[in-house]
Amino acid sequence: MKRRKFIKKTSLLSIGLGITNDAFSNIHKEAINLNKDALPVVIATWDVKLATKVAFATLINGGTVLDAIENGCKIEEANEKGQSVGKGGLPDRNGNVTLDACIMNSKGDCGSVIFLKNIKHAISLARKVMEDTPHVMLSGVGAEEFGYSMGFKKENLLTEASKKAWEKWKKTSKYNSIINIENHDTIGMLAIDSDGNISGGCTTSGLAYKMHGRVGDSPIIGSGLYVDNEIGGAVATGLGEEVVKTVGSFLIVELMRQGHNPQQACEMAIKRIVNKPNSNYKNFQVGYIALNKNGDTGCYSIQKGFSMTKYQSYKNVNITSDSYLIS
Ligand code: GLY
Repeated sequence: MKRRKFIKKTSLLSIGLGITNDAFSNIHKEAINLNKDALPVVIATWDVKLATKVAFATLINGGTVLDAIENGCKIEEANEKGQSVGKGGLPDRNGNVTLDACIMNSKGDCGSVIFLKNIKHAISLARKVMEDTPHVMLSGVGAEEFGYSMGFKKENLLTEASKKAWEKWKKTSKYNSIINIENHDTIGMLAIDSDGNISGGCTTSGLAYKMHGRVGDSPIIGSGLYVDNEIGGAVATGLGEEVVKTVGSFLIVELMRQGHNPQQACEMAIKRIVNKPNSNYKNFQVGYIALNKNGDTGCYSIQKGFSMTKYQSYKNVNITSDSYLIS
């Protein structure tokens, strides 16, 4: 379409929708009126105080907000006791630990790795995809080979504890999504620095005992994670299939763009899942956290038991999330 025709067409469309150029620039002006006293802020899904502490320390020691996200997520990837992220993650039903992760910076660039084996720091590899390739997503063997070419170490991600759990599971081989696995699950993190730059990341070994090849929401930009530096960011945890079906994180950021605060936006996105025809929401968990340009935060889940860790004003606290189901 020729440029002039395009401009004419988009202006007519804006008028039709009742959106004027002024409305767009007001949203922008409000967004850049920073509440400097509230910043910086780091939030993460679940009780991961060491991860938020490391992320916050990265920021105050002069690291970028993207460094903060990477360093924070790496803490949980290296924590072998957590059985839903990185090394020590529960395997698929064939005994393979496969990781999904994505990262997004304040310029709107993003990178993700999907169905990654043998490399613990999926978040760092996702960053490499973003920064060192012309692509957004790399999967499987291609992602793994790219990792080795970037100097990542090959290691067995299946720990003795996870192997034992899988061997026990094989006796019944019953597949149910686990609600609030050890009060943990996908680690999603969002941070805003003192200049108002926002980044985010999420990393997971996905559902325990999933089908070989299954991919969840965490490496899918817009589902597991979304950041728009003018507005804020959101990240998801829980049953990825349900997050993907409603493009949850993008939805939350768009709701914030329309004027909802992070708490309201998280609640509306959970209700979007719950209110779907034939929703089976009583049998699975989804939780969201969100952060806006002012450093305001929110979290909400379907089931009880979800929490968010927040590092702000030099305090690192775990906050119990409200939930749609209260018993
Ligand atoms: N939210 C993680 C997954 O479903 O894989």
